[in-house]
Amino acid sequence: SIDQKINELLAKMTLEEKVGQLNQYTGDNTVTGPLTINPNKKEEIKAGKIGSMLNILGSEYTRQYQELAMQSRLKIPLLFGLDVIHGYKTTFPIPLAEAASWDMAAIELSARVAARESAASGIHWTFAPMVDIARDPRWGRVMEGAGEDTYLGSKIAYARVKGFQGNKLGDLNSVMACAKHFLAYGAAIGGRDYNSTDISERALWETYLPPFKAALDAGAATFMNSFNDINGIPATGNRRIQRDILKGKWNFQGFVVSDWGSIGEMVNHGYSQDKKAAAYSAITAGSDMDMESNSYRYNLEQLVKEGKVSESLIDDAVKRILRKKFELGLFDDPYRYSDAKRQQKELNNPENTKAAREVAAKSIVLLKNEKNVLPLSKDAKTIAFIGPMVKLKRANHGFWAVDLKDVDSTYIVSQWEGMQRKVGKNTRLLYAKGCGITDTSKAGFKEAVDVANQADVVVLSVGERPDMSGEAKSRSTINLPGVQEDLIKELQKTGKPIVVLVNAGRPLVFNWTADNMPTIVYTWWLGSEAGNAIADVLFGDYNPSGKLPMSFPRAEGQIPIYYNHMSTGRPAKNEDDKMYVSAYIDLQNSPKFPFGYGLSYTSFKYSDMVMSKSKMSKNETLEVSVTVANTGKVAGEEVVQLYLRDKFASVVRPVKELKGFQKIKLAPGESKTVAFVIDNEKLSFYHEDLEFKSEAGEFDVMIGSSSEDIRCKGGFELID
Ligand code: IFM
Repeated sequence: SIDQKINELLAKMTLEEKVGQLNQYTGDNTVTGPLTINPNKKEEIKAGKIGSMLNILGSEYTRQYQELAMQSRLKIPLLFGLDVIHGYKTTFPIPLAEAASWDMAAIELSARVAARESAASGIHWTFAPMVDIARDPRWGRVMEGAGEDTYLGSKIAYARVKGFQGNKLGDLNSVMACAKHFLAYGAAIGGRDYNSTDISERALWETYLPPFKAALDAGAATFMNSFNDINGIPATGNRRIQRDILKGKWNFQGFVVSDWGSIGEMVNHGYSQDKKAAAYSAITAGSDMDMESNSYRYNLEQLVKEGKVSESLIDDAVKRILRKKFELGLFDDPYRYSDAKRQQKELNNPENTKAAREVAAKSIVLLKNEKNVLPLSKDAKTIAFIGPMVKLKRANHGFWAVDLKDVDSTYIVSQWEGMQRKVGKNTRLLYAKGCGITDTSKAGFKEAVDVANQADVVVLSVGERPDMSGEAKSRSTINLPGVQEDLIKELQKTGKPIVVLVNAGRPLVFNWTADNMPTIVYTWWLGSEAGNAIADVLFGDYNPSGKLPMSFPRAEGQIPIYYNHMSTGRPAKNEDDKMYVSAYIDLQNSPKFPFGYGLSYTSFKYSDMVMSKSKMSKNETLEVSVTVANTGKVAGEEVVQLYLRDKFASVVRPVKELKGFQKIKLAPGESKTVAFVIDNEKLSFYHEDLEFKSEAGEFDVMIGSSSEDIRCKGGFELID
């Protein structure tokens, strides 16, 4: 059995070799953190002092490194980890965009394709999914998660882990997943990356932990801890969350890797006096592998020799890591993932591009279509495609696209190419850049206006540069950068119908555009197939179905803003009510675009809400159903959303909470009954003593098309 094999191997290992297994270094290909210079990596691998490398990719390169490990005394294979966040060669939409699809099959497929491509290129392990709940769009890493909601985030965490890992490690089409960043990294104060978090115990359990539990339930092989401190204790040295909750209460059998340098950073936190103290805190807290801080490498042996750290703690960490190496089949064949032929085949699999196009189209959110300018006609005579994003390939790729130096960048379908491929021969396609993304020069406006004046319709593509959202990319002002909004104003004066495409890695504040432009499509960063997917939506070959996974603020001053806020003692009656109520005197409370919002080219009518009973006891379930009809002229998909509110409880509860959703497809005129089952778990919450249970009393039931667009309401009573 694997246990036996692990024990036999462990018995042969010196303490130095054991510590080596806990040590991870970066390669020199891609850099995803501050570099520590270590020229001896190759020699150290041969000496059995390194257990894993990150940022080594490609079948050849990983093979070369594995050959070094095979020269070590015990020939323990290396693990190769990489940030395969939204695709490998085929780049999929950034995770926040994919979350907007509310389509679990699509999200799982995207992770599956990423796993197939990377696993064929020597990668064993992705540092994904990021399952941090994030309610502050200033934080650059919102692009990497599933947004603000715990229920949706948990479903997505589950789907992504399943996609990466499949049902069994060691299957050559999968890679190990890594649920990160444990814990509460997304709650960084002020939205500033790497910042502290200060979170109540109840919020930890209710909001931040569930997506990690969902990832674990899906079988996540590894977890990564986080840079932040939580209520004063750095996550990396946090015994309670890693040892007590994750490995204890949740019985996690995989291993925990630190974030880049986060063990050593406990010195900067002022929590550990030096790296030795940091190594002590991290290993006792349950951090098994040290990514790039060198704290374990130079201190753990000494700590054991001094009797400060028990060798059994090291053994536990080593066994967890060896177990994964065995499960991946690396002891049978250390090169099994580094297969040039498979790599060639997988990286050129047309199915992958097809999947990327479909998922990208599903991720697009139609924010406004007041004059039904969309969908565009393929026979339009002249289309002006204007803006800094139109021809920029890289702009669609997003922050975490894997840097495959040998892959032809023309693989990315630019928005221009997508449009060119879509329009018929009789359509004249004009282009002007207008301005740069962050430039302050308006020199290109005149050309843009001239081009717009010649067109029947203008498509204007604006947004953020891909290095403006992502790690260490927090922004204090989340506007459309540069003079892009001025370009929109200038073009509006032409009187031409204009479709605005907003490409971004986070919710932006773009009030002038949102108020004055009747047609707006949020296209995020959609990956390799962005151009095709955008064209599919613009011309109605795909009817947009995305719904926002985060509230879009009206102003940065509203942040953090999220739909499921607690009920206050002085709720405002309406947006104008300012009389000693919980409100801003200079702004509405509501977001510009709410959570769950997104339009379609068709319309949906909700009716006939039926509740199977009006009273439910805790060991029963209740069914609520509605009929949804497609009342428009084209087929479309709708995400039907179920929200609940516990009206009175011993702990203040949110004004509403998402507790179910279903994405359905309806032909014109078709209707379907959508049913949700409400059980005691959906009604339960963490009490003052952190017990998770429900309380008898009244509940509101709301079903709708967004968190603010509730179409059917009902209620029931929960009885003991
Ligand atoms: O996986 C990432 C993590 O999310 C942020 N710091 C660097 C790691 C490795 O690249």
